[in-house]
Amino acid sequence: MDEPKEVTIQNYKGWEDFYKIKKSEKLDFFIRKGRMLDILFSQQFDRDFLNNMCQLATQIRRMALTKMGARKLSGLLSHKRAMLYFVQPSTRTFISFLNACHILGMKISEIRGTSTSSEVKGESQEDTIRTFASYVNLIIIRHPEAGFAEKTAWLLNQNKLPVAIINGGSGPDQHPTQALLDIYTLERSFRNIGGMDGKKIAMVGDLKRGRTVRSLSYLMRNYKDVTLYFVAPEVFRMKDDIKSFLNKHNIEFHETDDFASVMQHVDAIYMTRIQKEYAEAPAEETDVYPQFHFTKEHLSVIQSHCIIMHPLPRRYEIDVEVDKDPRAVYWKQERNGMWMRAALISYLFGVDDEIATEYR
Ligand code: NCD
Repeated sequence: MDEPKEVTIQNYKGWEDFYKIKKSEKLDFFIRKGRMLDILFSQQFDRDFLNNMCQLATQIRRMALTKMGARKLSGLLSHKRAMLYFVQPSTRTFISFLNACHILGMKISEIRGTSTSSEVKGESQEDTIRTFASYVNLIIIRHPEAGFAEKTAWLLNQNKLPVAIINGGSGPDQHPTQALLDIYTLERSFRNIGGMDGKKIAMVGDLKRGRTVRSLSYLMRNYKDVTLYFVAPEVFRMKDDIKSFLNKHNIEFHETDDFASVMQHVDAIYMTRIQKEYAEAPAEETDVYPQFHFTKEHLSVIQSHCIIMHPLPRRYEIDVEVDKDPRAVYWKQERNGMWMRAALISYLFGVDDEIATEYR
């Protein structure tokens, strides 16, 4: 049973002001020696970076197939340690990061809830993280609060601690590594039809509180002539911050609650679940919104190349009958996460070139 907690609140001078600065204006703060040290939000990624990460993920995937390749990979970071600090529920993001670290030979420690750490004694989360930083080279954080991973990176950078931070999901705000694996899935699926440029993508469901669709939307500025269709019930429409970002970067988007009218025209359908855990009165949120579900009947309506994605876990949004269709790529998408995260970690520690040389 969880003890009632009284956690120490510490005030860090300068953090509030730093957090308010526009993301695009503080990218340099998270760069060390010409390379990103912390991965916190999608606005950090440009097209070259995305292309390189997709290529690297594929190279790691291929290398891992053979015993010799796998052995080479597992020697790359055997001198590094990582901490997984996951204080919000997670299955696949946790497992996929864990396996990505293992592929590269890293040693892992983990905390999967605040009830077994010194936070029970009232230690602040910042001090807890500071403690991890004494032991490891990389901290991967999933946290219910928007901005918590960024705050940690800010704090460690202020103290000149060269520990990398990866945001593995920050409340309803962002999930940048999910966006990377989503781009990888889209690019791979469209590799014979010109890649991402010019594609039409529908995002469906809880766009207001779903961090995956938010992080993915930011990445669209890197591609040419992409059109987004935000398909959501009135109460879960995409928030204004994303819409103004898209307007600013001249990215075409449309909003509708009519799923049927959109699905036949698009190249990808990104389904999401209703994020009930963020409901103000969870017990009252019982609607399942069947008009925003993808059923097996829809398979005959969508285009022959249109892929169906989902960050998972799913509830009722996609009928299990749909899983067998080759256009249903969500299980592939899930596996892509491990390769992409291994690519990202190898980039962070500068061993990406050693992987690339295998293919030169
Ligand atoms: C998502 C998440 O946690 O944001 N899942 C994931 O990371 N694969 C989506 C969700 O929880 O609905």
